[in-house]
Amino acid sequence: MRIYHGRIVSFEDSSSPKEYGYMAVGEDGKIISLSQEKPDAEGELIDYSGYLILPGFVDAHIHLPQFHRRAMVSDSLLDWLERYIFPAEMKFSDGEFARKVSREFFSALLRNGTTTAVVYSSSHREATEIAFEEAAKTGIRAVIGQVLMDMNGPEELLTTPERAVNDIRSVALKWHGFDGRLFYAVTPRFAVSCTMDLMKAASNVARKMGLYIQTHLSEQMEEIMEVKKLFPGFESYTEVYLKAGLLGEKSIVGHAIHLSGRERRILAETGTKIAHCPSSNFFLHSGVMDLGAQERFGLTIALGSDVGAGPFVSMFEVLRDAYYANAMSPFKAFHLLTMGGARALRMEKRIGSLEVGKDADFIVVNPEPLAGTRDDLEVLLSRLMILGDERNVTATYVQGRRLWPS
Ligand code: GUN
Ligand code: ZN
Repeated sequence: MRIYHGRIVSFEDSSSPKEYGYMAVGEDGKIISLSQEKPDAEGELIDYSGYLILPGFVDAHIHLPQFHRRAMVSDSLLDWLERYIFPAEMKFSDGEFARKVSREFFSALLRNGTTTAVVYSSSHREATEIAFEEAAKTGIRAVIGQVLMDMNGPEELLTTPERAVNDIRSVALKWHGFDGRLFYAVTPRFAVSCTMDLMKAASNVARKMGLYIQTHLSEQMEEIMEVKKLFPGFESYTEVYLKAGLLGEKSIVGHAIHLSGRERRILAETGTKIAHCPSSNFFLHSGVMDLGAQERFGLTIALGSDVGAGPFVSMFEVLRDAYYANAMSPFKAFHLLTMGGARALRMEKRIGSLEVGKDADFIVVNPEPLAGTRDDLEVLLSRLMILGDERNVTATYVQGRRLWPS
């Protein structure tokens, strides 16, 4: 058993965080106790006085093959995809290159305090397997999926419904549930690059195998017009996904900015979760997601960096943009980042907060030079939310194991 000492904060609800001085973690990586006073039990004491200990950050939407293609300014989402992103993703046909970037990617996530990531791989089965292998080596928690497209993209990135199902089956059989930490997400890119046949085949295999589903929804007006043209006869973009079977309790849609009340109701009724990607939305000028409107429909919201349309791997920087997009207290922002992410993945019994019985996924944060640990908690978190970055992350733990520094 190990006993961690520091200013330990957990965000079970959005208004009143819990605070402790000591956290005991068992050999199995689970939290045994949280207390103000040092527990009597024997165990190695790890002293982080002067530091904050927070639940690990959940990045609910990030693209691995776009890690080195951040900050590429262009005219629109569709233009950006064609000019920069499809060419970048084509390079992942090279396994060695895919391995090198995968290593850099997962190590950057851990260095930034992300303990759980929901990842879009490239359109290649081999690169997706490599992403799983490299994630497994680090010990990070991740949900990963091969991006599926069968129209409106370069030939090299296109698949067929049959091939897609085979690829999903073979990789998911090996990796879905691995060590209780790695999971598979069926990942049709978006309706602009997927036929109805492909989306239906993808959602079928996801349901049969109990996999997650992730895709993009209603990010830019031009994209929405394109979906209208490609799928005439549907009332809305959301109804295309509904018909394809892509919506449900284990589905996470990225962006979901420009929605009607009817679309929000469909998302809520199907239990679909939203990955809110504010940094990306600002970068590509996609619009501002109305958080209040989503919440009025009871939708579950997680935060995503959406690297590379989002320029920042650090979820501190995404928090800042979430705040600029929709005013909220620091407590609410950290709650969305941690519990929101856990709920979106239906992992709230295991991660998302520091509670007895949960896995010890946590980060050690040095608040200096922005603030001191003795400051009022709201002040401290406010300064971290607006000014924090990877320099404030001192250590990252998943299941009680320190993964960074390694
Ligand atoms: N829509 C379809 N593909 C993508 C992508 O790679 N990034 C973003 N931001 N939106 C998308
Ligand atoms: Zn995305």
